[in-house]
Amino acid sequence: MPQQVLIVDDTEINLILFGALVKKLDDCQAHVFADPREALAWVTGHVPDLIIVDYMMPDLDGIEFIRLVRAMPGHALVPILMITANDQKQIRYQALDLGANDFLTKPIDKVEFLARARNMLGLNQARKHMADHASWLAQEVRQATQEIVKRERETVFRLAKAAEYRDPETGAHILRMAHYSQLIARELGLSEADQQLILEAAPMHDIGKVGIADKILLKPGRLTAEEFEVMKQHAVFGYELLSGSTSPLLQAAAEIAKGHHEKFDGTGYPEGTRGEAIPIFSRIVAVADVFDALTSERPYKKAWEVEAAVDFLTSGAGTHFDPACVKAFLNAWDDVELIRNKYQEDLLETIDL
Ligand code: C2E
Ligand code: SIN
Ligand code: SIN
Ligand code: FE
Ligand code: FE
Repeated sequence: MPQQVLIVDDTEINLILFGALVKKLDDCQAHVFADPREALAWVTGHVPDLIIVDYMMPDLDGIEFIRLVRAMPGHALVPILMITANDQKQIRYQALDLGANDFLTKPIDKVEFLARARNMLGLNQARKHMADHASWLAQEVRQATQEIVKRERETVFRLAKAAEYRDPETGAHILRMAHYSQLIARELGLSEADQQLILEAAPMHDIGKVGIADKILLKPGRLTAEEFEVMKQHAVFGYELLSGSTSPLLQAAAEIAKGHHEKFDGTGYPEGTRGEAIPIFSRIVAVADVFDALTSERPYKKAWEVEAAVDFLTSGAGTHFDPACVKAFLNAWDDVELIRNKYQEDLLETIDL
């Protein structure tokens, strides 16, 4: 498309002259108006590449014209060249204040007219080209980022699935505890981004169980003290597997893997961290994981009644669990029940992850 040049001058002979000059510029189309009000109507619907406007016009002078154009959305950067008489210095200052970019003095010198018009059109084209390029780049970056996020989620989901081949914990357990974790985060007032992060990271909390021998992992009865010491290593294995990534998702997952068996009174493992020194994501997941472990069947135990599991959380608030997390979980009870009903093992095939 040729570059659009708007010319506003109440003197017909000037319009003819300027129009003819613009034709000499490469690839330019002139739109000429003798009436500035008609020019304003046109410019409302168009963003020209250059505006040449006379100062002295009846009804609406060049100063007022520039003020109105600059107020239109999308017209802040259109180059404006104003035509004044030689002795109108104050008018020029005023026009500069309102956003005029350059001036021509009467009588018009053709060479000067062409040089200034060409310069302003060239600068404007370069500016538009850069703006287009920047917005193209921003769009590319957005797309690439979305693609990476999508692939990362898929990879993580496949990783959690791989662990499920060995772990007696089921897919439904992973989904429930992840959603309970999100609920607690919401009730505690964590940001939307953190609520989403914990939902996606929590499924990997027990990934370190892939490093525990079947003899222990799948043992159909109580573990001996020695076996439990081995079992405890799953927290550190998970951390080692997930840590060191620049991905916020894997970083959160690593922190959760390490911290989800810490207890609020400092008697947990692997580090015996206490109270709020335990990262908030881990304190949250501890409540979500234990509640779901208790109410689920395991090779070593039957499923508990819900009431008994709630009692376990309540009586462990302040010793095993962060009391704020227990309170948040119980506050969201209606949603807890929705999740319990939605993510059942035999319904899993029909669940949209
Ligand atoms: P898990 O089965 O996912 O259990 C997670 C946590 O829920 C346990 O962490 C514990 O805090 C709580 N929990 C689960 N079942 C019970 C229970 O019957 N009573 C009580 N009081 N708490 C329960 P914990 O104890 O650190 O265990 C970590 C993992 O070690 C368990 O994950 C499970 O995979 C394994 N494990 C623990 N005890 C036994 C056991 O006696 N036999 C077998 N085969 N595995 C066990
Ligand atoms: C995940 O596996 O990425 C999170 C689980 C879910 O979206 O429900
Ligand atoms: C986060 O990883 O965004 C917060 C978790 C924490 O506070 O430890
Ligand atoms: Fe665990
Ligand atoms: Fe678990």
